[in-house]
Amino acid sequence: MEVTDYAFFPTRVLTLQFPDTDALNSELCDLLEQRPELDDRFNMHPDAMNLLRLSGTVPAIERLRSMFIAGAKNWLEAEGIIGVEGLDCLLFSNRLDRGEFTIVHNHPADLVGIYYARTVEHHRAPIDPASGDDYFDAGDGLLVLHDPRLNANLTAVCNRDHVKVFPRPGLMLIFPAYVWHSVTPHRGDFHRIAYSMNFTLRWPAGPEEFCSLK
Ligand SMILES: [Fe+2]
Repeated sequence: MEVTDYAFFPTRVLTLQFPDTDALNSELCDLLEQRPELDDRFNMHPDAMNLLRLSGTVPAIERLRSMFIAGAKNWLEAEGIIGVEGLDCLLFSNRLDRGEFTIVHNHPADLVGIYYARTVEHHRAPIDPASGDDYFDAGDGLLVLHDPRLNANLTAVCNRDHVKVFPRPGLMLIFPAYVWHSVTPHRGDFHRIAYSMNFTLRWPAGPEEFCSLK
Protein backbone atom coordinates (compact mmCIF):
# COMPACT_ATOMS: atom_id res chain seq x y z
CA MET A 1 0.00 0.00 0.00
CA GLU A 2 1.27 3.43 -0.87
CA VAL A 3 0.17 6.27 1.39
CA THR A 4 0.82 9.87 0.39
CA ASP A 5 0.18 12.68 2.86
CA TYR A 6 -0.51 16.16 1.55
CA ALA A 7 -1.04 19.29 3.64
CA PHE A 8 -2.44 21.73 1.14
CA PHE A 9 -2.77 25.51 1.46
CA PRO A 10 -0.57 26.24 4.45
CA THR A 11 -0.48 29.75 5.91
CA ARG A 12 2.96 31.29 6.21
CA VAL A 13 3.64 33.05 9.51
CA LEU A 14 7.07 34.49 10.17
CA THR A 15 8.43 35.32 13.59
CA LEU A 16 11.47 37.54 13.93
CA GLN A 17 13.02 38.03 17.37
CA PHE A 18 15.13 41.17 17.23
CA PRO A 19 18.10 41.44 19.63
CA ASP A 20 19.01 44.42 21.78
CA THR A 21 15.62 46.11 21.68
CA ASP A 22 15.34 47.29 25.30
CA ALA A 23 16.09 50.94 24.50
CA LEU A 24 13.92 50.88 21.39
CA ASN A 25 11.01 49.32 23.28
CA SER A 26 11.30 51.91 26.04
CA GLU A 27 11.14 54.70 23.48
CA LEU A 28 8.16 53.12 21.72
CA CYS A 29 6.32 52.73 25.04
CA ASP A 30 7.20 56.24 26.23
CA LEU A 31 5.91 57.65 22.96
CA LEU A 32 2.40 56.34 23.58
CA GLU A 33 2.46 56.99 27.33
CA GLN A 34 3.48 60.62 26.82
CA ARG A 35 1.36 61.23 23.74
CA PRO A 36 -1.77 59.09 24.19
CA GLU A 37 -3.46 60.97 21.36
CA LEU A 38 -1.24 58.97 19.02
CA ASP A 39 -3.04 55.77 20.00
CA ASP A 40 -5.83 55.68 17.45
CA ARG A 41 -7.58 52.78 19.18
CA PHE A 42 -6.76 50.25 16.53
CA ASN A 43 -8.16 52.32 13.69
CA MET A 44 -6.69 50.81 10.53
CA HIS A 45 -8.84 52.41 7.90
CA PRO A 46 -7.02 54.17 5.09
CA ASP A 47 -7.73 57.59 6.58
CA ALA A 48 -6.41 56.59 10.00
CA MET A 49 -3.50 58.33 11.63
CA ASN A 50 -0.38 56.78 10.13
CA LEU A 51 2.34 56.82 12.75
CA LEU A 52 4.91 56.68 9.96
CA ARG A 53 4.42 60.43 9.73
CA LEU A 54 6.65 60.53 12.84
CA SER A 55 9.49 58.64 11.18
CA GLY A 56 11.32 61.87 10.33
CA THR A 57 11.28 63.16 13.89
CA VAL A 58 11.10 60.07 16.13
CA PRO A 59 14.12 57.78 15.60
CA ALA A 60 12.35 54.83 17.26
CA ILE A 61 9.59 54.98 14.65
CA GLU A 62 12.12 55.14 11.83
CA ARG A 63 13.94 52.11 13.22
CA LEU A 64 10.65 50.27 13.65
CA ARG A 65 9.76 51.10 10.05
CA SER A 66 12.96 49.54 8.74
CA MET A 67 12.44 46.47 10.95
CA PHE A 68 8.94 46.01 9.55
CA ILE A 69 10.24 46.37 6.00
CA ALA A 70 12.88 43.73 6.72
CA GLY A 71 10.15 41.46 8.09
CA ALA A 72 7.96 41.91 5.00
CA LYS A 73 10.90 41.26 2.67
CA ASN A 74 11.67 38.06 4.58
CA TRP A 75 8.05 36.92 4.27
CA LEU A 76 7.92 37.63 0.52
CA GLU A 77 11.20 35.81 -0.03
CA ALA A 78 10.06 32.81 2.01
CA GLU A 79 6.83 32.66 -0.02
CA GLY A 80 8.70 33.01 -3.30
CA ILE A 81 6.99 36.24 -4.30
CA ILE A 82 8.97 38.22 -6.84
CA GLY A 83 8.30 41.35 -8.86
CA VAL A 84 6.87 43.51 -6.09
CA GLU A 85 7.74 47.13 -6.77
CA GLY A 86 7.10 48.50 -3.31
CA LEU A 87 4.88 48.55 -0.26
CA ASP A 88 2.23 50.95 0.94
CA CYS A 89 2.59 50.99 4.73
CA LEU A 90 0.21 52.03 7.51
CA LEU A 91 1.60 51.99 11.06
CA PHE A 92 -0.68 52.13 14.08
CA SER A 93 -0.57 51.16 17.72
CA ASN A 94 -2.46 48.85 20.03
CA ARG A 95 -2.25 49.84 23.70
CA LEU A 96 -4.19 47.60 26.08
CA ASP A 97 -4.99 48.49 29.67
CA ARG A 98 -5.61 45.82 32.30
CA GLY A 99 -8.61 43.70 31.30
CA GLU A 100 -8.75 44.95 27.74
CA PHE A 101 -8.63 42.65 24.74
CA THR A 102 -9.02 42.80 20.96
CA ILE A 103 -11.86 40.96 19.27
CA VAL A 104 -11.45 38.80 16.21
CA HIS A 105 -10.54 40.78 13.12
CA ASN A 106 -8.37 40.82 10.03
CA HIS A 107 -6.75 43.71 8.19
CA PRO A 108 -7.63 45.40 4.89
CA ALA A 109 -4.19 44.84 3.35
CA ASP A 110 -1.99 42.14 1.85
CA LEU A 111 0.29 41.46 4.81
CA VAL A 112 0.21 42.46 8.43
CA GLY A 113 3.10 42.85 10.83
CA ILE A 114 2.93 43.06 14.61
CA TYR A 115 5.77 44.18 16.87
CA TYR A 116 5.64 43.88 20.64
CA ALA A 117 7.22 46.65 22.70
CA ARG A 118 5.82 45.62 26.10
CA THR A 119 4.04 42.41 27.14
CA VAL A 120 3.83 40.07 30.07
CA GLU A 121 6.74 37.59 30.27
CA HIS A 122 6.10 34.17 28.76
CA HIS A 123 8.64 31.43 29.43
CA ARG A 124 7.94 29.25 26.42
CA ALA A 125 8.42 29.36 22.68
CA PRO A 126 6.38 32.09 20.99
CA ILE A 127 4.66 29.50 18.80
CA ASP A 128 4.29 25.76 19.27
CA PRO A 129 1.62 24.44 16.90
CA ALA A 130 1.82 20.98 18.44
CA SER A 131 1.23 22.15 22.02
CA GLY A 132 -2.50 21.38 21.99
CA ASP A 133 -3.39 24.52 23.95
CA ASP A 134 -7.08 24.69 24.80
CA TYR A 135 -8.89 27.17 22.59
CA PHE A 136 -10.88 28.62 25.50
CA ASP A 137 -7.93 29.02 27.88
CA ALA A 138 -7.47 32.78 27.55
CA GLY A 139 -4.02 33.05 29.13
CA ASP A 140 -2.64 36.56 29.41
CA GLY A 141 -2.55 38.82 26.39
CA LEU A 142 -2.06 36.01 23.90
CA LEU A 143 -2.44 36.47 20.18
CA VAL A 144 -4.72 33.81 18.72
CA LEU A 145 -4.45 33.08 15.00
CA HIS A 146 -7.66 31.51 13.71
CA ASP A 147 -7.78 28.99 10.88
CA PRO A 148 -8.65 30.97 7.75
CA ARG A 149 -10.57 28.05 6.26
CA LEU A 150 -14.29 28.72 6.57
CA ASN A 151 -15.74 26.88 9.57
CA ALA A 152 -12.64 24.72 9.89
CA ASN A 153 -13.33 24.41 13.61
CA LEU A 154 -16.60 22.58 12.88
CA THR A 155 -14.74 19.65 11.40
CA ALA A 156 -14.61 17.13 14.22
CA VAL A 157 -11.37 15.61 13.00
CA CYS A 158 -9.58 18.95 12.94
CA ASN A 159 -7.31 19.70 15.87
CA ARG A 160 -5.35 22.53 14.37
CA ASP A 161 -7.96 25.24 13.93
CA HIS A 162 -6.02 27.84 15.91
CA VAL A 163 -2.51 28.74 16.96
CA LYS A 164 -1.63 30.71 20.06
CA VAL A 165 1.25 33.16 20.07
CA PHE A 166 2.94 33.94 23.38
CA PRO A 167 4.36 37.40 22.68
CA ARG A 168 7.43 39.05 24.17
CA PRO A 169 9.21 42.35 23.66
CA GLY A 170 11.28 42.45 20.52
CA LEU A 171 9.14 39.86 18.74
CA MET A 172 7.68 40.60 15.31
CA LEU A 173 5.16 38.54 13.37
CA ILE A 174 4.42 38.76 9.68
CA PHE A 175 1.42 36.93 8.20
CA PRO A 176 -1.25 37.33 5.51
CA ALA A 177 -3.72 40.06 6.39
CA TYR A 178 -6.71 37.80 5.72
CA VAL A 179 -5.88 35.65 8.75
CA TRP A 180 -8.44 36.27 11.48
CA HIS A 181 -6.78 36.97 14.81
CA SER A 182 -7.61 38.23 18.30
CA VAL A 183 -5.90 39.16 21.56
CA THR A 184 -6.99 37.61 24.85
CA PRO A 185 -7.41 39.88 27.92
CA HIS A 186 -4.29 41.59 29.19
CA ARG A 187 -3.98 40.94 32.92
CA GLY A 188 -0.99 43.05 33.93
CA ASP A 189 -1.00 46.37 35.77
CA PHE A 190 0.72 48.10 32.88
CA HIS A 191 -0.07 48.98 29.31
CA ARG A 192 0.57 46.14 26.88
CA ILE A 193 1.95 47.90 23.85
CA ALA A 194 2.17 46.60 20.32
CA TYR A 195 2.57 48.29 16.96
CA SER A 196 1.01 46.97 13.77
CA MET A 197 1.87 47.60 10.17
CA ASN A 198 -0.46 47.04 7.23
CA PHE A 199 1.40 46.28 4.01
CA THR A 200 -0.24 46.63 0.62
CA LEU A 201 1.91 45.40 -2.23
CA ARG A 202 2.58 47.63 -5.19
CA TRP A 203 3.15 45.99 -8.54
CA PRO A 204 4.67 47.57 -11.64
CA ALA A 205 1.84 49.19 -13.57
CA GLY A 206 1.90 50.14 -17.22
CA PRO A 207 0.38 53.50 -18.23
CA GLU A 208 -2.72 51.78 -19.59
CA GLU A 209 -3.51 50.39 -16.14
CA PHE A 210 -3.79 53.70 -14.32
CA CYS A 211 -7.13 55.53 -14.23
CA SER A 212 -7.05 59.02 -12.78
CA LEU A 213 -10.13 60.03 -10.78
CA LYS A 214 -9.31 63.72 -10.98
FE1 LIG B 1 -4.74 42.89 14.06
